[in-house]
Amino acid sequence: MIGTTEGSSFLASDVPAILKFTRQVYYIDNLQVGRIRPGEVLFYDLNGDEVQLPLTEITWDTAAAEKDGYEHFMLKEIHEQPRAVRDTLNSLIRDGAVDLSGAGLTDDILRSIRRIDMVACGSAWHVSVAAQYVIEDLAGLPVRVELASEYRYRRIPSSPDTLVIVISQSGETADSLAALRVAKERGALTLAVVNVIGSTIAREADHTLYTLAGPEIAVATTKAYSAQLIAMDALAVRLALVRGAITEEKCAELITALQAIPDQISRVLEEKQRLQWFSSKIVNTHDIFFIGRGLDYAISLEGSLKMKEISYIHSEAYAAGELKHGTISLIEHNTLVIGVLTQGSLFEKTLSNMLECKSRGAYLMGLTTNGNFSVEDSVNFTVYVPKTDEHFIASVAIVPLQLLGYYTSVNRGLDVDKPRNLAKSVTVE
Ligand code: G6P
Repeated sequence: MIGTTEGSSFLASDVPAILKFTRQVYYIDNLQVGRIRPGEVLFYDLNGDEVQLPLTEITWDTAAAEKDGYEHFMLKEIHEQPRAVRDTLNSLIRDGAVDLSGAGLTDDILRSIRRIDMVACGSAWHVSVAAQYVIEDLAGLPVRVELASEYRYRRIPSSPDTLVIVISQSGETADSLAALRVAKERGALTLAVVNVIGSTIAREADHTLYTLAGPEIAVATTKAYSAQLIAMDALAVRLALVRGAITEEKCAELITALQAIPDQISRVLEEKQRLQWFSSKIVNTHDIFFIGRGLDYAISLEGSLKMKEISYIHSEAYAAGELKHGTISLIEHNTLVIGVLTQGSLFEKTLSNMLECKSRGAYLMGLTTNGNFSVEDSVNFTVYVPKTDEHFIASVAIVPLQLLGYYTSVNRGLDVDKPRNLAKSVTVE
């Protein structure tokens, strides 16, 4: 994208990079050339003929690109999550029902789908893993989840009744964009779930659903992840209703649960000092394992990534039942194991996997919902989050793990917002 203002022009791969300087941008397409001079940009096709591109005005608040009194963008963005989730949800709910007409997804389309493939990178892939459990459980529709960098080189058969959902904050990630193009070539129907308006993935997909997280500056995503998650939950509810997998009453109940999530996130944020204290205890830890089953595994994946990418502490997320097939040999005295225990039917199973680690010397943290006090008999430190419908708990349970990663990075004196070797928008393969 190319931005202009009086006397200057800017070239960037993503809007937040230049938001401080200008809000007037052009999105340049494939096989087009931009000639940039101070304050002036001209566009040409490959024959050298001039083409007119529309000037887009970015409506994001410039305050979004300021720290607003917070020490880091990441902490600010963690605190913006109730707003990001509420705005995204409000854009998808009309008269008490999930309404996806903004993305052009009619009920007929939702009924005609036979399979969903979700394709993404990084945290957006973790959203896909979580959404897979929710959609399969609520709507009874088969879902597969693929890393975009793998999907693009595989030959996965698709047809118009396959909905390929590409989730991307920036809408510019090279592998996700390539995956979208491959999906279209294979004849699938495509939906982009994107945060940056007018980005390439948003423009090229058949349908686009925008998350309303606003610009995200910190490299480690938080509010965009949460906005993606709530959008996918809303989609799951609509799919379930129109496909007859849930009743109107159940649907209303689920929507009420979704609408309560922003306030529940705010309640978790009020407890942040406990996480700050715990992070000071683990600041010199060498290895952290995040374990869980089902949705708790999806939460573990994101919690582990938040920890390792900004604290540089080695961390892995493991499906709790899989540990015994090799990884448990890495557990030694004082290895930190964080068990995510939000799913009632899986609680005892994961807890027993945590105890297997404890008997080999591990130090345990449990993350569970209010009321599950028995967990304190087994673990060294417990974090409670408010109860919600179990399908939607990732939105609430991820917040303490974001805070834990954040404070650990701060306590280690690291560059929280710009961790080494990482980029916000990954526009290379
Ligand atoms: C980078 C970012 C991650 C993000 C991933 C996918 O690695 O650091 O936070 O999850 O790209 O980005 P996207 O813009 O496609 O969501």
